[in-house]
Amino acid sequence: MKSEYRINDQHLMQFVRAIWTHAGSTPLEAERIADHLVHANLAGHDSHGVGMIPTYMISLTQGYLQLNQHARVVRDAGAILTLDGCKGFGQVVAKEAMALGIERAQQFGIAAVGLHNAHHIGRIGYWAEQCARAGFISFHFVNVVGDPMVAPFGGSDRRFGTNPFCAIFPRAGKKPLLLDFATSGIAFGKTRVAYNKGKTVAPGYLIDSQGQPTTEPKVMHEAPYGALLPFGLHKGYALATMCEILGGALSGGRTTHDETLQTCHEAIFNCMTTVIMNPAAFDAPAMQDEADAFISWVKQSPKSGEEEIHIPGEWEETNRAERLTKGIPVDTTTWQQICQAAQQAGMSQGELADFNALIS
Ligand SMILES: NC(=O)c1ccc[n+]([C@@H]2O[C@H](COP(=O)([O-])OP(=O)(O)OC[C@H]3O[C@@H](n4cnc5c(N)ncnc54)[C@H](O)[C@@H]3O)[C@@H](O)[C@H]2O)c1
Repeated sequence: MKSEYRINDQHLMQFVRAIWTHAGSTPLEAERIADHLVHANLAGHDSHGVGMIPTYMISLTQGYLQLNQHARVVRDAGAILTLDGCKGFGQVVAKEAMALGIERAQQFGIAAVGLHNAHHIGRIGYWAEQCARAGFISFHFVNVVGDPMVAPFGGSDRRFGTNPFCAIFPRAGKKPLLLDFATSGIAFGKTRVAYNKGKTVAPGYLIDSQGQPTTEPKVMHEAPYGALLPFGLHKGYALATMCEILGGALSGGRTTHDETLQTCHEAIFNCMTTVIMNPAAFDAPAMQDEADAFISWVKQSPKSGEEEIHIPGEWEETNRAERLTKGIPVDTTTWQQICQAAQQAGMSQGELADFNALIS
C-alpha cells in the first residue's frame, strides 16, 4: 500500500481550482488559491500547501472564512496604506495588498502596507516573490491573531502564533535571496505533516501540556495541548514579538491576548506589515556585485560535514526544480482529507474519481 502519491503540479492546480469553484469561489479566486497552495508545495513547504485545504473548508463551514472578498483600503497615507482583508482568502487579499504596495513603491521609492483581518495568507515567501518579480526588496512581519501555538522563551504554555518573518533581495539574472520562516523552531504545519505520517519531530521543538520536552507532534493536534518553542532561544522569541507588534498592532489589526483568543482552532487570521523598497533608489551601483561577492565568499567555506552551503532561497529553488519534474509528494492521509474536503465543497464522486485516476 502506497504511503504517498506524486502528483503533477498542473493536475493538482486543476483539482484545487475545482474544489474552490464548487465551494462558491469565483474562477479568479479559485485560481489564486490553487496557484498559491501548489507553489508552496513546489517550493518544498508542504506545511503551507494543499494540505491546508481541509482546514480552510472547516473555517468556511464554521462561518469564519468569507469567499470572494477583496482588500479594502482603510487609510491611504501616500507611501503607507492600511488595508482590511475583510476575512477573505489571504491568497486573494494579500496579492492585492502587494500589488497596491508595489505601485506605491514605484511612486515613492519605498512603501509600507499594513494588512489586517486576512484569512490565512499561507507561505509568506510567495508575497515576497511577487515584490521581487517587480524588482523590489521587501520584508514582512506577520502575526497569527488569537491562535496561540508557541511558548515565550522562559515560559511553559502557548501564548502566540508561529509569526513568520520574511525578506527578499532580487538578484540580476539570478534567483532572489529569500529568507522565509516561522519564528517557532518548526512551522505548525510541519507538526501536522509529521502527525499525518505517524512520525515524531526532532528534539528541541515541542513541549507537552506540562511544559516538558517531547518529540510527539500529537501535542499540537490532540488535547491536552502542548506548545511549539521559538527558534534560537531568546532571539527567536524576540523576533516573534516584533512580528506580533509590527504585524498585528501596526497594521491596524489585533495581537494575541485574553480578549482575542479564539475558541475555534481551524480559522487562521493573519495580519502582515510589509515594507517594499526600490533598490534603484539607493546610491549603490555595486549592490549586485557586492551581493555576489559575499555569496561566493561564504560558499568557499570548507564544509563542516555532509551538508552543502546554501544561500537563503536555494532550498526552495532545488525543491521546485525536482518537484516540477518528479511531481509533488502528498501523503495518503493528507490526500484523503483533501478528497473529503472536495466532497464537502460539492464535488461529485464521479469528478473525484476522475481526478484520482490522474494521480494513481
Ligand atoms: N501564514 C502563517 O501564519 C505562517 C505561519 C508560520 C509559517 N508560515 C510559512 O511556513 C513556511 C515554512 O516555515 P518554516 O519555518 O518551516 O521554514 P524553514 O524552517 O523550512 O526555513 C525556510 C527558510 O530557510 C532557508 N533555508 C533552508 N535551508 C537553508 C540552508 N541550508 N542555508 C540557508 N538557508 C536555508 C530557506 O531558503 C527559507 O528561507 C514559510 O513559507 C512561512 O512563511 C506561515
